[in-house]
Amino acid sequence: MADLSTAYTLCLVAAACYIKACSSSSCAVLECWFVREQTGRGGLSATSSHETSLLHIRTDRHAAESRPAPPDSPPDRVYFITDPSATLCHRSLTPPSGSVEKPRCEIIPFLPHLSALKWVAPLTDSASSPIYLQADWFSTSLQGLDGQLAVSTITRAATATTEHDAVLSVTSTTVSVRSRLGEPVLLDCGFWVDPSSPLSGSGFAVEWRYQFRGDGRLVLAYDGKADRVTEARGEEGATLDFEALHRRGNASLMLPKAELRHSGLYICTVYLPYLVAQVTVELEVVEPPSLSIHPSPLPLAVAGQTLAVQCDASGFAPLSLELSWEFKGSDGEARPLGPGSVTGHRQAWDGTYSQSSRLELDPAALGPGGEVTCVAGHLGGPRRASVTLNVVGVSSPSIEDSMAMVGVALALYGLIQLVSWSFSSSGEAVPQGKKDE
Ligand SMILES: *[C@@H]1O[C@H](CO)[C@@H](O)[C@H](O)[C@H]1NC(C)=O
Repeated sequence: MADLSTAYTLCLVAAACYIKACSSSSCAVLECWFVREQTGRGGLSATSSHETSLLHIRTDRHAAESRPAPPDSPPDRVYFITDPSATLCHRSLTPPSGSVEKPRCEIIPFLPHLSALKWVAPLTDSASSPIYLQADWFSTSLQGLDGQLAVSTITRAATATTEHDAVLSVTSTTVSVRSRLGEPVLLDCGFWVDPSSPLSGSGFAVEWRYQFRGDGRLVLAYDGKADRVTEARGEEGATLDFEALHRRGNASLMLPKAELRHSGLYICTVYLPYLVAQVTVELEVVEPPSLSIHPSPLPLAVAGQTLAVQCDASGFAPLSLELSWEFKGSDGEARPLGPGSVTGHRQAWDGTYSQSSRLELDPAALGPGGEVTCVAGHLGGPRRASVTLNVVGVSSPSIEDSMAMVGVALALYGLIQLVSWSFSSSGEAVPQGKKDE
């Protein structure tokens, strides 16, 4: 009994150690580009300089430092970031060693500032700059592997030191979203504020912007201090879960029904007094085509006469579509019949496209019949539609037909023999040719 409890205790201790190791204070070392805008001579041309940097991430500033192996070439800059939220410890930011693919990381100096935006200005009503702002501020943007995560973090360090604290992090786990037409869409965005920062608790604001080919509009802006949606002219029905927003910093945007015009980039921006961070989410609304074949059912095809079939693909988006035809005979083998003659596309009122392909079937070449299939290749997934083809008077007969024909031939031969025998046996019968002479 005592042994059992000892073993149990040991297990617990081991488990505790394991958990501690997993959530251990230092979790990742990120390779990052340090980017600095440099104003050219006369302030006219702005170029940027890129320096290599290493970010040592840990969740607890006072924990023992675990030093990883030094990189091949020493970085230009090294920073230590304490991130109690462990956002920067996400597994998509720590590739397996030796991995060629690396998370993307860029760190730039950040200047805390006042904003004149209607939904942000109330956050800094007093307009006095706290002494807390007199420090080095950086903004770090990260893209995890496989598009799993986008993070933007604002960090602060006492002037000219390398020990940074994460103050605001904005994340998205839906960096790239694909939706069918008419479905509800969730564009994930969440934020975390260091509760020990003097800037926490004085309110926040959230803004969602839409951008497509240089065209931008505000979708929604929310003043979290006054609990007021200040702007929501962009999208009907676009909303946030305000309770989740205040409780957990969940600023995800919900669109009740995906439409084609919703495809594009969405920028989730979170404001604290003097601070701002944002992540970008891409939405692509994709709808595969509906196929129909005409005429359906196919009329009985006659060998020697071509038969026209048409495949109509409709309601798809985006435009790119590949139509082709296939035939499956009684042997069960599918063979391609080519693309047919494909028409130009038309666009419907809802922005979806339609396109057709017409094919001239040569029934003589298709045996006694089979299945004719229209195949559509589309980003939203492949689609197929089939009709049955029956051919009469085929040139290549089946084995049963051949057997029957041989039988008929034999019977005919027998009949002729019988007739000629009965004529010749009558004796008086004179061949017609001779009688005419
Ligand atoms: C955020 O809120 C939305 C809507 O309630 C929910 O579907 C989503 O799962 C939440 N995200 C997180 C990370 O909790």
